[in-house]
Amino acid sequence: MVKLTPPMGWNSWNTFGPNINEQVILEIADAMVEKGLLAKGYEYLVVDDCWSLKERDANRRLVPDPEKFPHGMKAVADYVHSKGLKFGMYSCAGNLTCAGYPGSFEHEFIDAKTFAEWGVDFLKYDYCYHSPIIPGENLYRRMGLALDNSGRDILFSACSWGVDETHEWVKSTGASMWRSTGDIFDTWQSIKDLAKQQEKLHPYNGVGCFNDMDMLVVGMYGKGNVGLQGCNDIQYKNHFSMWAFFGSPLMIGCDIRNMSQAALDILTNEEVIRINQDPVCRQPVKLQGIWSGDDLLIYARHLANGDLAIGVFNLGDGNATCRLNLDQLGLPVSTGKTLELHEVWTGEVSYVKNATMFKDLAPYDCALYRAKVIDLL
Ligand code: GLA
Repeated sequence: MVKLTPPMGWNSWNTFGPNINEQVILEIADAMVEKGLLAKGYEYLVVDDCWSLKERDANRRLVPDPEKFPHGMKAVADYVHSKGLKFGMYSCAGNLTCAGYPGSFEHEFIDAKTFAEWGVDFLKYDYCYHSPIIPGENLYRRMGLALDNSGRDILFSACSWGVDETHEWVKSTGASMWRSTGDIFDTWQSIKDLAKQQEKLHPYNGVGCFNDMDMLVVGMYGKGNVGLQGCNDIQYKNHFSMWAFFGSPLMIGCDIRNMSQAALDILTNEEVIRINQDPVCRQPVKLQGIWSGDDLLIYARHLANGDLAIGVFNLGDGNATCRLNLDQLGLPVSTGKTLELHEVWTGEVSYVKNATMFKDLAPYDCALYRAKVIDLL
């Protein structure tokens, strides 16, 4: 499976945790279409942990819990496909999944075949209860190979949380995306920590294998399985902007059946998604503002059409001012060029004069620009 831009979709874990069932998944499939999410690119619907029985059957095959999924997973996959969506499932490289259900260790090929027979298009593969002796890279290579030989095109989503130097070997496993951090929670501190942890990992992102910063918490407002104190809409806007800008897969985690209009507007901003899905998928570069503290992140990214994406993210609880010299972008005054800035959330257009870009930001707010190179004003 070659995935050329970051995968987009919805995953059950953040909101539902173990409380998943056929009805919820079917309703989510309906909502992904009705709310226009599929039309914006959110195509994978992924059932996370806790979908199976605790024991395999006599043929060593995984068994869907009949109370949760009375018609089995093939029926769910068929419904999801009938909506124009793709269907994702979950397993683990260990003996058990993180929630204690059977993992795929020593059953990789039989499980890959089962998933293929059910019509699965995406497999998230976790790292709990894994062998202390066999290196993680071998475990992920096993399942990657099993999926590649399953007879179906199945996107392999590695979830080893960035441990054991995942970034050094993950591209050798056939994975199209890889979790580069621990689990997200619906708090500003969690979002901030995950964003900062990416700093050293950006060079490992790129076409075909994307740094997965974990599922989005946009629109959870403290409810659901990973909902703690929750965030406000400004924080969710900043969260989504960073994940999109950094080229992370965009997997929605809130209950989209009854999501707020604000959350829907954030998750469907076309210009933000366009930056995320830019075809060359260049890594973001961290820039240094003048007098900007630790909580003001400034990043730039080359886009395929010659534009730049520039992101200014205030992670702090106070006002912040970005003063950025364009020299760092390769645009000193001597080039005779400057930037026309299009802010993608407000639509505002501004120009950089004297090679220094200024932007004031309220607490937790961000600005995200598509910047065009123009002649010096
Ligand atoms: C791990 C993963 C999560 C989720 C749970 C399920 O913690 O990182 O994303 O899949 O397991 O148990």
